Amino acid sequence: MIDPFGRTITYLRVSVTDRCDFRCVYCMAEEMTFLPKSELLTLEELDRVCSAFIRLGVKKLRLTGGEPLVRRNIMSLFRSLGRHTHGGALDELTLTTNGSQLARYAGELRGCGVRRVNVSVDTLDPAKFTEITRRGRLDVVLEGLAAAKAAGLAVKINTVALRGVNESELDDLVAWTGEQGFDLVFIEVMPMGDIGGESRLDQYLPLSIVRARLQRRWTLEETDYRTGGPARYVRVRETGRRLGFITPLTHNFCESCNRVRLTCTGTLFMCLGQEDAADLRTPLRQSESDAPLEAAIREAIDRKPKGHDFVIDRRHNRPAVSRHMSVTGG
Ligand code: 5AD
Ligand code: SF4
Repeated sequence: MIDPFGRTITYLRVSVTDRCDFRCVYCMAEEMTFLPKSELLTLEELDRVCSAFIRLGVKKLRLTGGEPLVRRNIMSLFRSLGRHTHGGALDELTLTTNGSQLARYAGELRGCGVRRVNVSVDTLDPAKFTEITRRGRLDVVLEGLAAAKAAGLAVKINTVALRGVNESELDDLVAWTGEQGFDLVFIEVMPMGDIGGESRLDQYLPLSIVRARLQRRWTLEETDYRTGGPARYVRVRETGRRLGFITPLTHNFCESCNRVRLTCTGTLFMCLGQEDAADLRTPLRQSESDAPLEAAIREAIDRKPKGHDFVIDRRHNRPAVSRHMSVTGG
C-alpha cells in the first residue's frame, strides 16, 4: 500500500476499545461517555480486518485503546493475531497499555508473540500519579512493569510532559528508566478531544525546553535510530538507554508517516490530526468475502493526507480534532 505522497503503509494501530480504567487529565474528561458495546466490532471482526491489512502489506500491528487490556476476552484476539508472527507475515505484534492489568497478562502476551510493550507512566510520585490518572495506582502499574520484565518483554515508557505537573521529575524518570533497563519517550500534549475544565495551554510544555534542561545532567548523544514513527531518539550516555521525543507541535513528523489507525467501531483514520476517515465496518459486514474490505482499505490509503495541523496557542485553545486519543489510540 503506497499513499499519494509515496509513503508505504506498513503499520496499523488498532484501538480495540475506547474504554479505560483511568481518566488521564490530558486525555479524557472526568465524565466520559463511552460507546455502547453494540457499536463495537467483535473480536472476530477485528481479527478479520487486521488480517486483511497484513495481506496488504502491514508488518507491524499495535493494539491500543482506551486501555486494550480492559476489553473482555482480549487475549483471544492476541492469540489469534499471534499466528501471523509465528508465520512470519507480521514482524511485530505489540500494544500500548497503562499497565494496570499487566501483572495478570504479561506472561500470556509473551506467549502470543508479543516482544515489546509501551507503558504510560507520567510520574513516579504515587499521589501525583493518582491525580493525573484520576483513578490509577502507581504501585499496581509498577507491579505490572515488573511482571513484563520477568516475562522477557522489552518495555518503553511513554511520558506526557505536563507543565507544572511532572516537569520537575523528568530527570528522575530518565534515571529510573535507566536503572530498570527501559527506553523512555517524552510526548508533548496534543489537542485531541474535549478534556473538561482543563486547559491544554496550561498543560503544554514544549520538549525543546525539556531537552535543554535534561542536558544539564545527562549527555544526550545523537543517533540515527528511527522506528518509522514520530519520535526522534538520542542515547543517554550515562544510562546507555534510548530517549525519544515526540514533538507534534514544535516539529512536524508527517513526512515519514507509515501508519494508519483503526477505531473499535471499524473506522479507519488515515491521519491522527485530521477528521477524514473511511468506514470499514460496512464492507466488512457486507460480504463473507474480504474483497470489498480490501477495496475499501486501498481506497482509503489513496486519500491519506499529507499531515496534521496541530497548533496550541491562545487563539487555538481548543481541540484540533474532536475525537479523543482513546478513540484512535495515539
Ligand atoms: N496528548 C499527548 N499524549 C496523549 N496521550 C493520550 N492523550 C494524549 C494527548 N492529548 C498519550 C498517553 C499514552 C499515549 C498513547 O498517548 O499518555 O502514553
Ligand atoms: Fe486511559 Fe491512556 Fe487515556 Fe490515560 S491516556 S485515560 S491511560 S487511554
